[in-house]
Amino acid sequence: MKNDLQQILLTEEQISRRISELGLEIDRHYEGKEILLVTLLDGAIVFTADLIRNLSIPLRLDCIRVSSYGDSTDPETAPRILSSLKSEVGGRHVLLVDDILDTGNTMKRVHDEVLARDPESVHSCVFLDKPERRQNDFKADWSGFSIPDEFVVGYGLDYAGQYRQLPFVGTLKPSVYE
Ligand code: PRP
Repeated sequence: MKNDLQQILLTEEQISRRISELGLEIDRHYEGKEILLVTLLDGAIVFTADLIRNLSIPLRLDCIRVSSYGDSTDPETAPRILSSLKSEVGGRHVLLVDDILDTGNTMKRVHDEVLARDPESVHSCVFLDKPERRQNDFKADWSGFSIPDEFVVGYGLDYAGQYRQLPFVGTLKPSVYE
């Protein structure tokens, strides 16, 4: 699997340091409050697992599954919610967590879905942000790293369902996807 990689963009150490910082910032923001942390399956599970272990505030966890990319690197225009939240959202502080903010269409869709359920607040935290790719005005409240418009895998991010388990973020050799 490592032979398929062209370059490592973010090492395990860089990722771990940044997530500690995010944990402190999020703890400080929500001090004295409990949050409902909503992870966007599947890509965000690795980031979520590390992020929640860096948070001290009380939290409950829920998941939402959205379809946007499938096995292709071309996004469809309208992400669909495939399975929604189990939890009561009304009056809660919701933190949406995703692995990557690309066009922003997925986060915007989920944000609208949660907002319609009358939460006390909705914020978002993404591991990676590709600002050049945005197709709307969505901005994450917290982001781990801003990266250029390159196709990346690892730390939850896949290509055709593979590479999610890599503990770092890297780019693939063009021969893998051409
Ligand atoms: C990826 C990623 C984000 C979304 C971001 O999901 O996990 O949820 O795309 O893209 P956008 O900002 O352009 O909407 P994907 O559909 O690849 O599913 P996955 O989470 O299972 O990897």
